[in-house]
Amino acid sequence: MDASEGFLVQAENLSKTYRPRDVSPTVALRDVSLGIRPGESIALVGPSGCGKSTLLSIIGTLDHADTGHLQVMGLDVQHLSRTQMADLRFRHLGFIFQQYHLFPGLTVLENLLAKFIGRPRPKHARAEAENLLNEVGLSHKRNSLPKELSGGEQQRVCIARALLSSPALILADEPTGNLDSENGAVVLDLMLRLVKGRQAGLLMATHEKAMADSLDRSVEMRDGAIVGNIQNI
Ligand SMILES: Nc1ncnc2c1ncn2[C@@H]1O[C@H](COP(=O)(O)OP(=O)(O)OP(=O)(O)O)[C@@H](O)[C@H]1O
Ligand SMILES: [Mg+2]
Repeated sequence: MDASEGFLVQAENLSKTYRPRDVSPTVALRDVSLGIRPGESIALVGPSGCGKSTLLSIIGTLDHADTGHLQVMGLDVQHLSRTQMADLRFRHLGFIFQQYHLFPGLTVLENLLAKFIGRPRPKHARAEAENLLNEVGLSHKRNSLPKELSGGEQQRVCIARALLSSPALILADEPTGNLDSENGAVVLDLMLRLVKGRQAGLLMATHEKAMADSLDRSVEMRDGAIVGNIQNI
């Protein structure tokens, strides 16, 4: 663990304005500060457009804030090169999105191992991938293509892929947004069990209050700002 002062993420006063050409600018984040400790699970809640996905993208180093300070795993993100950011993501972060983003032409097992494309694949990677597929209950689908799976099954593959090589922090954007409530609850329970079992941190955007209540803490956003912070357990 190389996070400074015991934090996986320390975000201070992050602000972000989108300035698309020919459209008026949108302030997406206003002075957002957030710390995430190892093993902590945090729900980002708030209405559509309040800035949840923007904050996840910035913490995930997929986008950058205009102002403010961000440390991820003790590293000052604004001082990292693109390659260093890619390394940071590869080593320490796992992503789960509402749209599954699986490679349609690869099997379930190949989709997990695709995490290592362009990087040396550790010897134990395949065994770890098989083990994770077992944990998400999909060993029997290891040779299937994504289109042959249900939505819930595809999201379970994404959870396994995100957890492969044990990242310290999982970033999940509406991970159950495409699932009915019953399937959504199953996927959320599974994700929380695996994340907690590995003592990974979790930052998850969700519209659904019931989903947020199962995480350690809920951070409420409105209009780009954090307006509430509730300890759930
Ligand atoms: N690439 C972009 N270009 C311009 N504006 C953007 C862009 N991405 C987001 N926005 C705007 O920034 C604001 C925050 O968007 P964001 O996607 O972070 O909200 P959200 O809380 O994730 O919403 P939802 O719950 O609908 O997913 C919104 O007003 C949105 O229209
Ligand atoms: Mg969003």
